[in-house]
Amino acid sequence: MELLAALRNRHSTRLYKNQQVSDDEIRALCDAAAMAPSSMNSQPWHFYVATGDSRNKVGEIMSLTTLHLQEYIEILGAEVVERAARFYEDMGMAPVIVAVATPTFEDPTEQRDAYIAVGAAIENFMLLAVDSGLGVCNISAPRWVVDQLMEAFGVPEGSTIASLIIVGYPDEAPLAQERHHDVVTFVSR
Ligand SMILES: Cc1cc2nc3c(=O)[nH]c(=O)nc-3n(C[C@H](O)[C@H](O)[C@H](O)COP(=O)(O)O)c2cc1C
Repeated sequence: MELLAALRNRHSTRLYKNQQVSDDEIRALCDAAAMAPSSMNSQPWHFYVATGDSRNKVGEIMSLTTLHLQEYIEILGAEVVERAARFYEDMGMAPVIVAVATPTFEDPTEQRDAYIAVGAAIENFMLLAVDSGLGVCNISAPRWVVDQLMEAFGVPEGSTIASLIIVGYPDEAPLAQERHHDVVTFVSR
């Protein structure tokens, strides 16, 4: 698939088929992620892959986030909260949940650089997934249950979970979300 086609075809998938994804396929996505640039080639990422029983354990933990979502009902409205709660209940049945871990730094600049690199790595991961016919969704909602997730994934102290990525064969064709168009300002020469 051409790069622009992969960029256009990547949409967050929140419903998956009951079909396994092989370890080789997941490893290929992690290898693509690890090709991302990083500050001083620090490569501040590690991918913890939960499938089978470990995926179910992570799913149980994520379903706890539905309680916290109720705190957002005033801001987001009942319908959005309800839809999100249904999704976190089973994580769209995704067969694979990946935790992307990054070291924690005292220095805010180092931390910022690590998150930028992790974001680039996640995009690589997602684009190869699209190219391979897989669906993916980046999930930052675990902020409420991050301690339980750290334990379930076996992420060591000194690192934190930057994000989760759910992976599987899509059972929906997500609509393209609106994009802002006024994102460029050419500074006068
Ligand atoms: C940093 C980050 C965090 C996100 N967290 C969540 C999340 O917690 N739950 C969710 O359903 N989607 C999450 N998403 C997916 C976004 O909602 C999605 O990318 C956005 O609405 C644009 O839609 P698209 O990915 O289909 O283009 C996240 C995306 C990013 C980049």
